[in-house]
Amino acid sequence: MEICSVVMAAGNSTRMKSKHSKVVFRVGGKPIIKWVADALYEIGCSEQAYIVGDRQEEIREILGEDVIYAFQEQRLGTGHAVMQAQTFLEGRDGYTIVLPGDSPMVSADTLRRALETIDSNGYACVIITALADDPTGYGRIVRDEEGHVQCIVEHKDATEEQRQIKEINSSMYVFKTPLLLSSLGRLGASNAQKEYYLTDTIGILIGDGYKIGAVICDFDDTRGVNDCIQLSEAQKIMNQRIIRKHMLNGVQIMDPDTTWIHYAVEIGPDTVILPGTTLMGDTRIGSDCMIGDYTRLDCVKVGDGTTIDNTIATQCTIGQDCRIGPFTHIRPDTVIGDHVTLGAYVEVKNSTVDEYTRARHLTYIGDSQVGKNVNFGCGTVTCNFDGQDKKGCIIEDNVFIGGNSNILSSVVLGKDSYIAAGSTITEDVPALGLGIGRSKQVNKDEWVAKKSRMRGSNYIRLDDKRRVEV
Ligand code: UD1
Ligand code: CA
Repeated sequence: MEICSVVMAAGNSTRMKSKHSKVVFRVGGKPIIKWVADALYEIGCSEQAYIVGDRQEEIREILGEDVIYAFQEQRLGTGHAVMQAQTFLEGRDGYTIVLPGDSPMVSADTLRRALETIDSNGYACVIITALADDPTGYGRIVRDEEGHVQCIVEHKDATEEQRQIKEINSSMYVFKTPLLLSSLGRLGASNAQKEYYLTDTIGILIGDGYKIGAVICDFDDTRGVNDCIQLSEAQKIMNQRIIRKHMLNGVQIMDPDTTWIHYAVEIGPDTVILPGTTLMGDTRIGSDCMIGDYTRLDCVKVGDGTTIDNTIATQCTIGQDCRIGPFTHIRPDTVIGDHVTLGAYVEVKNSTVDEYTRARHLTYIGDSQVGKNVNFGCGTVTCNFDGQDKKGCIIEDNVFIGGNSNILSSVVLGKDSYIAAGSTITEDVPALGLGIGRSKQVNKDEWVAKKSRMRGSNYIRLDDKRRVEV
């Protein structure tokens, strides 16, 4: 079966009130126009033409040069849009799928069903329709007494009686290519909107004696995105579909209403996702993990059995059986080994942290290499920025760092060494050695009494005036 497609994406997107075309907004983490292209690729349709307008650059950036672009200079309606693909369509036999560029929910199954219907019944066109609770604004499918499609009437041109029809045009069609071309050539613009309506091809083809079929699909699959309200509705429906897929794969998602998962995310069975969690990009989570609540992972690989609580992590790898969070920030290019613990207010960036290492509280690790079984005391800082360059340190296996220590750029802490609490380490510490980098403590006997600085029970009271009225 020879198939090609024309996607209409030249609209001004006026109602989005944005500098971007509506078709580049993301739903489920994927640009709307990419959902359309992928549905076409899924059914084996790689001959794709896109009708684009002034904002074509951002569309080209997403779809690349494997598809054809036709520029529609003036926006004179959907019929006029498809006419711009005339050169692309001429000389082709078989079928042309026509789709709007703003419908992310378009399903490959429905397209397949429409192709089968046109092919086995010899129709000139099959319209993909849906039953809408509120059909206001849509083109209505007008059928005769026997149920055959007669024409499509736009809402603005419809009679009061036609406006009662609940079956709407999704703006998705399959045409016999030569018949599409012949009917496009005869479109006029004498209607309420003074536009060349693609929908008028249906009446023209029926006038020529051809039969038109219809395939009814789920209304949600036809949803278009014209403003930010419809964008949010589409995002919600897509998200619920993605979440259902994961739940059917054995992932426990406690609160689907506050969990957001992008289309490419993978999650192993027996993993639990707690409320307020967002999983983005190509995040891949193993089995038996506990993620959340209130956690955002963007392009993160997570091994089996790991717990991540109230954490933000981006473009990094976290091993198996780790304990991350709460309130941990893992930044790009970080690789965390297995059995690692990173606790509250720990930030790691562009570093490797090998297995069984622990940084439970208030620690910054930047641009550094950390070995196995290292203990970071509370408040350890790798001073990775000398004011000119970013360069971290090397901390070898089994090092013990006492609390509140600073480890300066390029320093190497040798295997099994100790760092005394409160040290600022500016030079390498040899393996098995102890590094102390602090001034020696001095106690002055009776200093307080001599200076008359006894504080006793002189407690400071809270100033009542500072209380906030709520
Ligand atoms: C269209 C259909 C209507 C259907 C509805 C479904 C027509 C005349 N009407 O109406 O029956 O129920 O979709 O949503 O076709 N576009 C261009 N160039 C143009 C005009 C439109 O590329 O000159 C693109 C738009 O960017 C959009 C698509 O075509 O992606 C549909 O256009 P739109 O103006 O939204 O059509 P509707 O009035 O909604
Ligand atoms: Ca529309």
